[in-house]
Amino acid sequence: MRLTPQQLADFDDKGYIFLPSCFSEEEVALMRDEGEAILKSTRQEVWREKTGAPRTAFAAHTFNEVFRLLGSHPRLVKPLQQYFGEDVYVHQFKLNAKAAFEGDVWQWHQDYGTWQRDDGMLAPRAMNIAVFLDEVMPINGPLMLIPKSHKQGVFNAGHDLATTSYPLWTLDQETVTRLAAEAEPPGGGPGIVAPVGKPGSVLMFHGNLVHASAPNITPYPRKIVYLTLCACSNHITKFTRAEWIAHRDFAPIVPVDDGALAEYARARKVAAE
Ligand code: SIN
Ligand code: MN
Repeated sequence: MRLTPQQLADFDDKGYIFLPSCFSEEEVALMRDEGEAILKSTRQEVWREKTGAPRTAFAAHTFNEVFRLLGSHPRLVKPLQQYFGEDVYVHQFKLNAKAAFEGDVWQWHQDYGTWQRDDGMLAPRAMNIAVFLDEVMPINGPLMLIPKSHKQGVFNAGHDLATTSYPLWTLDQETVTRLAAEAEPPGGGPGIVAPVGKPGSVLMFHGNLVHASAPNITPYPRKIVYLTLCACSNHITKFTRAEWIAHRDFAPIVPVDDGALAEYARARKVAAE
């Protein structure tokens, strides 16, 4: 899969692109089942909200075959190889649960702010690719983005160790207010967007794009996988976080076949019959 000139132009202008229906229902059902099992497990890679509900499962591509295939999937890897003009490796792999009723807030932040400060990543030549495993709706804590906020570099941030169970470099209200005002469309309306869509949709966003999500107080979970791919020449230089949070294997990803997830789903169905 290659990004079109229009998609590349949109990405440079707004800082994100949304690709509905990137994965089929069959592929998503497989990933959702595996994801739910992982989130129930007691592995050290599964972090919990203060309530005990699952928040994030890290590094599932290293211990689960289905997510290994997703982490090397050409529909995710090839557009980033194209964008960065070189091979990419997996910097981080997160399955965020945003559990029904208990999924907590993600405060306003930039991902590259963390990768630079905590991991010594030299440039914002890394990007998150969100893969929706549940339907993301306006009501269940969708990811909110401030369009164009990727154009102003890394903002000052405070290290919030208290609000949630996950430490995060978060932006102050003045900065978020200014950026949202700057992003308001000429015809009126808010300067914040929240892409919503069916399971299988994909959202790619720039490492410096400011984003957040509200708590989920609905009965509808909002599981999203975030695959963070980094240009190989831009690998991290500081190792302050666990290996399973910020990876140290900088080997270029070799993409799997486009049909690998669907084939796995069919093979599993046959085996169960
Ligand atoms: C993140 O910003 O890393 C996660 C936000 C979310 O899942 O809502
Ligand atoms: Mn983030």
